[in-house]
Amino acid sequence: MEKFVIEGGKRLEGSIRVSGAKNSALELMAASTMGRGPSVIENVPQIADVETMIELLKYMGYEVSFSNGVLRIIPGKQIKLEAPYHLVQKMRASTSVLGALLARHHRARVAMPGGCNIGTRQIDLHIEGLSRMGARIGVSHGFMEASTDGLRGTRIYLDYPSVGATENLMMAGTLADGKTIIENAAEEPEIVDLAEFLKKMGAHISGDGTSTIVVEGVDFLEGAEHTVIADRIEAGTFLIAGAVTGGKVKVRGINPVHLDIVIQAMKACGCNFEIEDDSVSVSSDGEFTATEISTLPYPGFPTDLQPQFQVLLSIADGISFVTENVFDNRFMVSDELNRLGANIKARKHYAVIRGVKKLSGAPVRATDLRAGAALVIAGLMAEGLTEVYDIYHIDRGYERFSEKLSGLGANIKRVSVDTPDSNKWE
Ligand code: EPZ
Repeated sequence: MEKFVIEGGKRLEGSIRVSGAKNSALELMAASTMGRGPSVIENVPQIADVETMIELLKYMGYEVSFSNGVLRIIPGKQIKLEAPYHLVQKMRASTSVLGALLARHHRARVAMPGGCNIGTRQIDLHIEGLSRMGARIGVSHGFMEASTDGLRGTRIYLDYPSVGATENLMMAGTLADGKTIIENAAEEPEIVDLAEFLKKMGAHISGDGTSTIVVEGVDFLEGAEHTVIADRIEAGTFLIAGAVTGGKVKVRGINPVHLDIVIQAMKACGCNFEIEDDSVSVSSDGEFTATEISTLPYPGFPTDLQPQFQVLLSIADGISFVTENVFDNRFMVSDELNRLGANIKARKHYAVIRGVKKLSGAPVRATDLRAGAALVIAGLMAEGLTEVYDIYHIDRGYERFSEKLSGLGANIKRVSVDTPDSNKWE
């Protein structure tokens, strides 16, 4: 097990190139199983969740090679139509093969994803939608046993614009018989990236990126080549890190439109920005004014940047309000930030943050990927030494996180937790 040890107080300065989007790459990998031939996916981030998805594809019988961000996925002779528990439990995004396998092979056995630290992560909308398309899905011994005589296109209204359900149903619709209309669909950029890849494979999709997606089923899909879009959540994480350290950070290779509302919220707190076609620069004197944010489906404020934004608000002058509308348990980071001297009162769906002058270093624990990133950002700005434990959460979704931060001037080290420590915390 490893931890990050961070000496706070260094202003971050310089620029980083944003990696490929985790939440697109994983879906593209699932979609590649629908192609009759091999696929090549470029700009794939070297992160633990991608390794897990590679394990799943290999388990299913695909030949997968991955080097320098390029994934080559080649169908094997025999494809196992199953996503086993030990992989789904490691990464719930494995359930995104359900629609793909059903559509192409008319059968799938996918472990139920189970619980998650950031709240209940239902998949009822996935199941309801696929059932409306003619799938028979039962649950036994912790597995979803799904089968169909052939999926049929139909109109599906999502009660909530679920990203995963939109992706599963859009994939399923590409090989269904007839037209599938997904209403109240998620509009995230990762959905558009997935649709672009599917179209290159031969799918007929329109309306991706809007709340109504129309998919005309085709008889088969081929493999294709595609480059993953940049990770807007990684970009936002580095912009917040630059701001809270009173520095000047440029994130390159990103579409600024994907960060619109985040930039707007940071400007409201007093951050300055320079925006170019494929980069965003932030600068700040480290002084902020309080504001309020509410997380919403895209293009609203992204829930995946809510924990990181709490760090900025924790030292903003005044009282800030954060409302979390997407997940029902995404304030665990607040207790850890309070250990660093923040003054956050968090309840189920909202937090009241009274700004303090500064945070002070202490040992803290990552509870999930984005909370872990938030604690690292807090350590960069806190006075003295901060240790962040359970950083395996961070390794799931951030490529070379500490290296990129060190490149911006941060004093951060990855060390094994059983490194003999002086009892510096006493
Ligand atoms: C995707 O998760 C992302 N993961 C999440 O990123 C992200 O936070 C989330 O979208 C929202 O943007 C991947 O893309 C791999 P949802 P997903 O379905 O698809 C409820 C990260 O840190 N819901 O939009 O699971 C659900 O309970 C991760 O990178 C149902 O009720 O998100 C949740 O409260 C965390 N029934 C809300 O919708 C369903 O059938 C949002 O879920 C599906 C979802």
